[in-house]
Amino acid sequence: MRSAPIGAALEDAAPLSPDYQLGNEIGRGSFAVVLHCTDTRTGTRLAAKKLQRYVHGRLPAQQAAVVGAEAAAQAALCAASPSILRLVDVRQDDNYLYLIQELCLMDLAAWLQQRGGAPLSGREAASILRQLLSALAACHHAGIAFRDVKPANLLIREINANGLPMIVLADFGCCRSTADPPPASHASAGTPLYSSPESLHSAGGIEGDIWSAGVLLYHLLSGHYPFCDPRHRISQGEFWRRVAEAPIRTAGPAWHGVSPGAVALVHRMLDRDCSSRITAEQAQQDPWLLDMTSSRASDWRRAGSGGAAEPAQPQLPERMQAGKGMVGNVLPGMPASLASGPLHASV
Ligand SMILES: Nc1ncnc2c1ncn2[C@@H]1O[C@H](COP(=O)(O)OP(=O)(O)O)[C@@H](O)[C@H]1O
Ligand SMILES: [Mg+2]
Repeated sequence: MRSAPIGAALEDAAPLSPDYQLGNEIGRGSFAVVLHCTDTRTGTRLAAKKLQRYVHGRLPAQQAAVVGAEAAAQAALCAASPSILRLVDVRQDDNYLYLIQELCLMDLAAWLQQRGGAPLSGREAASILRQLLSALAACHHAGIAFRDVKPANLLIREINANGLPMIVLADFGCCRSTADPPPASHASAGTPLYSSPESLHSAGGIEGDIWSAGVLLYHLLSGHYPFCDPRHRISQGEFWRRVAEAPIRTAGPAWHGVSPGAVALVHRMLDRDCSSRITAEQAQQDPWLLDMTSSRASDWRRAGSGGAAEPAQPQLPERMQAGKGMVGNVLPGMPASLASGPLHASV
């Protein structure tokens, strides 16, 4: 049975208490509640993502696949890249599985809201994009499509001395291995506002992450979204029609003062032909991006690769550590089965 090895891996998780004590809620998404959490052995303040595990005493196969894929992908990727939210431990109690993670300040959506939704300067937008591209390049290099790039899944680790947010990619609940066959039924993954044209008809690959990052860049630079104004309701059909064929407007008052280099990158990321769409690696070499971030080179170096700090060694259950005991074709330490399967949508 498909869930057996995943369920078995999760069974290895040690009990939550007495090593961790839960506190107040920090945030919640479509699928999980995230709580403050303290490591009682060291006093370290962390975050615990609480995922429902057992339903009526049983672990449903689909739930096992979703939780297993999320934990395994995050464990392997945070070991490979400092731009990924650190997974420190995996614990359980009778009903829930807890992904014990580094504690961040807030998510990017909250930070943007605090600023009143005003467009960012080119330097601020480039700084955020550069860090996001660094995280996506790590995912894509490992054959993982993240599939839910949006501000709520970009967490702020710290604000640097220049007032720029240092971000990490979080929430691997929608991710998918590109080595796996597409799911039999295509359930939509990700958030429509950021979804690529091809995601309407397919499971979505790594190219879709670049499209979503392009929608984010569009929003950061202009304060608008390319295909709709969230304040005005439009039908789903009309929304997808616009994603598929409406002109991508980068003119008008909202774009005054935005440099042509930034506009050119937006269009290369929002290329409807996913075979010619710019890749994460190529976008990292974009002249505008390099120009906007190069004068801050000393800050990047101080904060580590991609602007993120050096990760502490994760203390995951042995079977979840990269390269230990799990043999797969996706990542060292990540069996293909853990990265496949029905993945949740956060629509
Ligand atoms: N490690 C963390 N530190 C601080 N806030 C977090 C952390 N993890 C999640 N959050 C907050 O909780 C929200 C939901 O977490 P997320 O992992 O995205 O759950 P879901 O899978 O339900 O979308 C995030 O958007 C963020 O606001
Ligand atoms: Mg989320």
